[in-house]
Amino acid sequence: MKYFLDSAKIEEVKYAYHTFGIDGVTTNPRHIMMSGKPFFTVIQEFAEWVKAEGIEGHDKFPISVEINPHLKEADAMVEMGERIAAMSPNFVIKIPCIEPGVEAARRLEQKGIRTNVTLVFSPAQALVPAKNNSLFVSPFIGWKEANGEDCRSYIQNIVDIYRNYGFKGKTQIICAAIRTPKQIVDCAVAGADIVTTGLEVYQDSFKHPFTNQGLDVFTNAWDNTATE
Ligand code: E4P
Repeated sequence: MKYFLDSAKIEEVKYAYHTFGIDGVTTNPRHIMMSGKPFFTVIQEFAEWVKAEGIEGHDKFPISVEINPHLKEADAMVEMGERIAAMSPNFVIKIPCIEPGVEAARRLEQKGIRTNVTLVFSPAQALVPAKNNSLFVSPFIGWKEANGEDCRSYIQNIVDIYRNYGFKGKTQIICAAIRTPKQIVDCAVAGADIVTTGLEVYQDSFKHPFTNQGLDVFTNAWDNTATE
């Protein structure tokens, strides 16, 4: 399973790339706002970084960039998608799972521009992007679990449907809005292709009290053992 970082902060992306070897990035308008920088400045920084890092390319290190959420017509969505895609071969156009959104994603894929259909909250919503060859579909986890909904079966159903119709792997399932290490595990058990979350959740996944306790035990043993 691949790990993407859900962030628009270039310093966080560099850190996660060099520390955990993350496989890609997802951003959204809220992340861009939290970076404190203008939209096109942020994505230009990403475009320059992949070049400098030697990972620029259509089939390397995908970075999902979401279009202006005000756009509600497919033509305008396609136009903005083309503008963003022209800035870097790594950019994948993130489009909301609404009717004009799936039309725009379909048209962009036909032009060779890769898409990530986002804000997916049901298996029924996940079907059309796969039929239309979107590269990614992003079912949200945290928002549903905060609403008391079970996400293991939700992701499992999407995985099963994709397997039934030969979509699995062709349209990759990104489990998004992950809030805890347990949700990463649930998505992995269900067979998701990718998880995307913030740096803190990945860092939390390395924490276990027994690991610290074990380190204390072994350090104490080391200190009480002759090394020569
Ligand atoms: C995924 O691609 C989204 O950017 C993200 O997970 C959205 O959810 P959040 O901002 O509530 O974490």
